Amino acid sequence: MATCETTSHELAIHGGVPVRDTLLPYGRQSISEESIQTVVGVLRSDWLTTGPKIPEFEQAFAKYVAADYAVSFSSGTAALHGAAFAAGLESGKEAITTPLTFAATANCILYTGATPVFADVSPRTLNLDPGEVAGRISSRTRALIPVDYAGHPAELEAFLELADKHGLIVIEDACHALGAAYKNRRIGSISHMTVFSFHPVKHLTTGEGGMVTTNDAGLAETLRRFRNHGISSDARSRQASGQWFYEMVLLGFNYRLTDIACALGLQQLNNLDGNLSRRRAITASYKAGLAIALMTFPAPNWHTNNSSAFQCFMA
Ligand SMILES: Cc1ncc(COP(=O)(O)O)c(C=O)c1O
Repeated sequence: MATCETTSHELAIHGGVPVRDTLLPYGRQSISEESIQTVVGVLRSDWLTTGPKIPEFEQAFAKYVAADYAVSFSSGTAALHGAAFAAGLESGKEAITTPLTFAATANCILYTGATPVFADVSPRTLNLDPGEVAGRISSRTRALIPVDYAGHPAELEAFLELADKHGLIVIEDACHALGAAYKNRRIGSISHMTVFSFHPVKHLTTGEGGMVTTNDAGLAETLRRFRNHGISSDARSRQASGQWFYEMVLLGFNYRLTDIACALGLQQLNNLDGNLSRRRAITASYKAGLAIALMTFPAPNWHTNNSSAFQCFMA
């Protein structure tokens, strides 16, 4: 596979050990020549956005994570906002989440006018502790938002049990965890909604981008409307049907992912398993080769098949 990976670096010898002459980059994506040509094909087509690449990418992504529906967004943050809205968060309601995450996890609660309530993490996994969450559930709670921190899935069964008992929605922030598995099920179809990011440091990139997966047709429809101004149909379906009438049925946003990005996403999805193996191999070589200890997470047994290469990124 041809890639856009950057150039080799001079290695200076210090104390007998080869050392790079530049700092490690913030991130480095791997994009095949075939992907570049596919994106160029979209640039030459009629549909730069709201075109055919969007359902193509969404359906392929849903199949990869074994979910019934996948709804693309312009970023992981926008996808979290959509999920928070679809869960019914609004002023006067609360969502319980972890303090140990990227800012967007809690910000999405504030965007809806609801209040974030932080519960502590388990020192064993650094993931949200279900016992701590249980103690914070009140009549105002509407959603639980665990994060699969550094690629390790949270204790999803415990959160789903709490959600069943109290009539709540679980929004799983899986922005670190595409390709990870929880008890032999791939992350993406377990929680009521699962959110992914396609920022360039993630496992699959579309430049910027995000996705919500769900098995609930009603949630999927709300998510589609929310990312398209709250409008009941999109431009391509109106062109296909010849029906130009539409209604704005809720207050939404322009959070659409473009066809250009979706074409790249489809190609990245084809290469995902190979890229995940490469990340795991890099993690293993850091662990084996570094004299200093990396920050590592003692993993419960459901974590065996995860995308733990994020450990390097987070350390
Ligand atoms: C845990 C987590 N949630 C949400 C996001 C937001 O994703 P995006 O950068 O695609 O908006 C990130 C991004 O790094 C993240 O790490």
